[in-house]
Amino acid sequence: MTKRITTATFKKMKQDKQKIAVLTAYDYPTAKLLDSSGIDAILIGDSLGMVILGYETTTQVTMEDMLHHTKAVSRGVARALVIADMPFLSYHLGLKESVINAGRLIQEGQAQAVKLEGGIEIIPTVEAIIKAGIPVMGHLGFTPQSIHNLGGYFVQGKTDEQAKKLLSDAKALEKAGVFSIVLEMVPAELAEKISAQLSIPTIGIGAGVNCDGQVLVIHDMLGLYQGSIPKFVKKYSEIGEEINQAVSKYVNEVKHGLFPRQEHSFKVEKQEVNKLYGGK
Ligand code: KIV
Repeated sequence: MTKRITTATFKKMKQDKQKIAVLTAYDYPTAKLLDSSGIDAILIGDSLGMVILGYETTTQVTMEDMLHHTKAVSRGVARALVIADMPFLSYHLGLKESVINAGRLIQEGQAQAVKLEGGIEIIPTVEAIIKAGIPVMGHLGFTPQSIHNLGGYFVQGKTDEQAKKLLSDAKALEKAGVFSIVLEMVPAELAEKISAQLSIPTIGIGAGVNCDGQVLVIHDMLGLYQGSIPKFVKKYSEIGEEINQAVSKYVNEVKHGLFPRQEHSFKVEKQEVNKLYGGK
């Protein structure tokens, strides 16, 4: 039987200095492929708002969107840790509602953990969710749900004051009991310092090589998303290009009668044709 990766495995990997590889996924076939390719964790990120649903920002993503995609991913995973993002406003309207929403992602979505964006201001919420038995991952630095407050896609923690705030937020989240923290668009030196001062693993995205693990949005790293791609993304494939080429070829073959060919068609014996169609 496949040994499941858990939040405890995450912490052990940090102790053993083993890097943690995380990718996002939003559907069953992709989740299955990632799981069989050795990924440690799959994040159903609210980035699905942009790369799957065509929204402008993650602030449009709802609990129902997250549940729909979390269910699909969970069905495809046997080994990796499945983490679901809590969407915009699903953990800001009171502790009870936050716990109910986190619980839905676990109970209905079958995720094993949830991720929340924010620092000291969300500590009571994080504590309430953890008290309900739900593992929480933090998310600091550039936090896309606060895009309108942050004023754009900027690196966070560049000033001394911001850097100190990020470090104290990370420590407060660790104290509250999160099992790991995503650091997004943070200077590499600061991410290294935060990672060194925590006993839980940091997972970087645009935060340098010294985080304890890395995460990317799968559509960005596969070249599947046609919108603008952040500087920190490495493209491991150009699947979007391959899809364009394959679809153009298909369109051309259909229009010129080159598809389907005999091998793609079904046949009946001649005498059967006579019987079926009255010899005509
Ligand atoms: O929504 C998402 O995909 C994320 C990752 C970029 C960390 O939060």
